[in-house]
Parts: sequence; C-alpha cells; structure tokens
Amino acid sequence: MRTQLFALPLLAALPSASAHLHKEAQKAGLMYFGAATDTPGQRERAGKEEAYPRYDRILADNKMFGQTTPTNGQKWLFTEPEQGLFNYTEGDITTDLAREQGKILRCHALVWHSQLAPWVEEATWTAENLTAAITSHVEHVAGHWKGQCYAWDVVNEALEEDGSWRESVFYKVLGDEYIKLAFRLAAEIDPDAKLYYNDYNIERPGPKVDGVIRLVKMLQDEGIRIDGVGMQAHFTASEAPTLDEQIAAIESYAETGVEVALTELDVRIPVPYTDEDLAQQKEDYTNAVGACVQVPACIGVTLWDFYDPFSWVPDFFPGEGAALLWFDDFKKHPAYHGVMYALRNGTRPHHPHPGHPGGPPPPPHCDKKKKGKGCDKPGKPGKPGKPGKPGPWYA
Ligand code: XIL
Repeated sequence: MRTQLFALPLLAALPSASAHLHKEAQKAGLMYFGAATDTPGQRERAGKEEAYPRYDRILADNKMFGQTTPTNGQKWLFTEPEQGLFNYTEGDITTDLAREQGKILRCHALVWHSQLAPWVEEATWTAENLTAAITSHVEHVAGHWKGQCYAWDVVNEALEEDGSWRESVFYKVLGDEYIKLAFRLAAEIDPDAKLYYNDYNIERPGPKVDGVIRLVKMLQDEGIRIDGVGMQAHFTASEAPTLDEQIAAIESYAETGVEVALTELDVRIPVPYTDEDLAQQKEDYTNAVGACVQVPACIGVTLWDFYDPFSWVPDFFPGEGAALLWFDDFKKHPAYHGVMYALRNGTRPHHPHPGHPGGPPPPPHCDKKKKGKGCDKPGKPGKPGKPGKPGPWYA
C-alpha cells in the first residue's frame, strides 16, 4: 500500500508528452480547458514584453488551452466608451486569436455594473432611455461578435452576497427587468450563443447560490432563455470551497436545467508564499477542477489567464498573488499537477451522484478539516467494473 500511496503523487508530477490541460480535460469528458487572455500591452499593464513569445506559444497550444475569453476587451468601457460610439479593437484582438487558432470562445460581459463606461454611471436615467441604452449596447456588441461566441456572459455579478439584487445603476432604474431585457436581447441577436449568468462566490451552497437559482427560474418562468451559470471561481487558498460543496453547488444549478462552467478560475496565495501555501493551492485547484469533472452539467474550466505576471490578483488583492498555474519564470505550479490529477483521476464513476447512480465509492475527499485524518489513508476499493483508487483524492 505504501508504494501505491507514493506512486500517485509521483506519477501526477512526472512531466509527460500528453500532460496538456485541454487534451486531458476532453478525455475526462469536458468540452474544454481554457485560459482568458488580454490584449498584448494590456496584460495587467505589467510590461514583461520579453515574456510574450513564450507566453504566446503556450496560449497558442490547443492541446493546452482549447478555449479562451478576452479578460477585458468586450466590456462596456472598451466597447462603448461614449454613448453610441462603438469600438471593438481590444475585443477583436482576442476573438480573432480564438478564430485563427480554432479555440472555443467565451464572450464576456454584456451587462455589468463594473468597468462600465463613465457615461452610463453619470447620466440621469429614466426607465425608457436606460432601456434604450442597454438595447443599443447589446444589439451592437452581441451583433458584432454574432456567431463567434460559444457562450456570452450576458449579465455579470447582479447579486449581493446575501442573494439580494445588487443596487447597480441598472437595478436602481429598472429593477430586475434589466436582467430579463439583456437575456431577451442576447437570445434574439445571437441565437446560437449559450447565454450565461456569471458571478463570484457562488461555488458553495448558501444564500448567493439561492439567489442565482432564483434568477435562473425568474427568466425561465417568463420564457426567457438562459443556458448556463458561470461560477467565476476566484478563490483564496485555504478558504476555497471543498470538493463536495462545489459538487453540491453545480448540481443545484444543474437541477434547473442549465449547464455550468468554471469561468475565471484562480487561487490566490499570500506573497511571499511558502511551500505550504503552494500545497494548499494545489488542493484547492484540484477540488475545483475535480468538482467540474464529476458533475456532467459542468462543461469546462477557464483560468483567468495562466501566467502569474498577467494575473489581476496582485493589483486587486494587495499582499496576494501567484494565483495561476505558471510562475514568472514559466515553471509550472504544483497546482498544475493537481489539476492534471483531477482531470485524470477525479472521474465521474468514482463519485456517485444523481447523474451516476450506483457508481463505486469515491476516494476519501480531503478538505482542510480532514487533513491528516483520513486523507493519508488509502481509498476503499471500488465496486465492480473499476479498480479502486488509493487515496488521497488530491495528489
Ligand atoms: C478583471 C480583469 O482581469 C482585470 O484586468 C480588470 O482590471 C478588472 O477585471 N470578475 C470578472 C472579470 O467578471 O471581468 C474581472 O476581470 C475579474 C472579476
């Protein structure tokens, strides 16, 4: 048993020709594994031009990343900086790259209270003219990229932590009608795009998850199409939801009939970091990707960029960073191997859930509370069909 226990982490850490995220994700039954990216020069405004060729080569490798999302270029601030003045330059750079490289494209984000053009916040709106402004924005922006987006984040972050509606400029004037309007318009303008609601802190059951479900049902009750829930999955190591919590959240969305994706995954750690921080990060990444692999409704995972210097985290969370899978020197984080492990071994049959009744028992799921008490024990052998896996769940 000792050798077996040892063998897994070692195997997971060995570099191998097929150790590519998108390729493994597809083998695991996901549609894609991707990374968001920004326009050269905008990449967290960090300089680092000398790193571009190597960065671009990794991004261009479709075995590694089969999907991308523009981190900024499609947001209101860029696409309609002044009322009626549309500019697709920034967004096109990434969407063209996706087309040229044959990557699946997620489009982000049509209606969001943040990174709004100042004119939207400054104007005094009536319900009628704000409706007209949203209509024009969605018609132009979704129209420009019509047919190119696998999915659109139609509305982003409309909920407060307690599940109530966020008091955005849109909500203050239109109430929840603005959400219905945005989804109705997107469905009309880009009928082939999957229409998503996207938010953060919706990866473990709680009032905000309930709020998302309420939003989905509100649209469905009115006959308005919504196809997906995007769990942003911006995590802080050691505070990230457990595997089981994430599975429960995904399943609760799936029960409404929508698909789910991890749309902006990153796991931030304190900087400077320790080996323990990296180990915790590995566990958290493994759980996130493992949860997606284990629930059929979860169709893909997107990292919010993949290279630490281009992460938004250090700017937004002072004292934290190193949230992605490639360090500054392009070495891979230990978490990369955790993700690989989840893709290769966190397979659905090992975790029985409503979609897979009667599967063999899961390996023991390690979360931080159980560390040292069971995580280091081998898993129970599986029932017929599949051989049992030795624990721990994460490598
Ligand atoms: C972030 C970008 O990564 C940064 O470059 C930008 O300065 C701020 O926005 N939730 C979202 C993303 O939906 O659009 C945000 O992206 C991160 C949080």
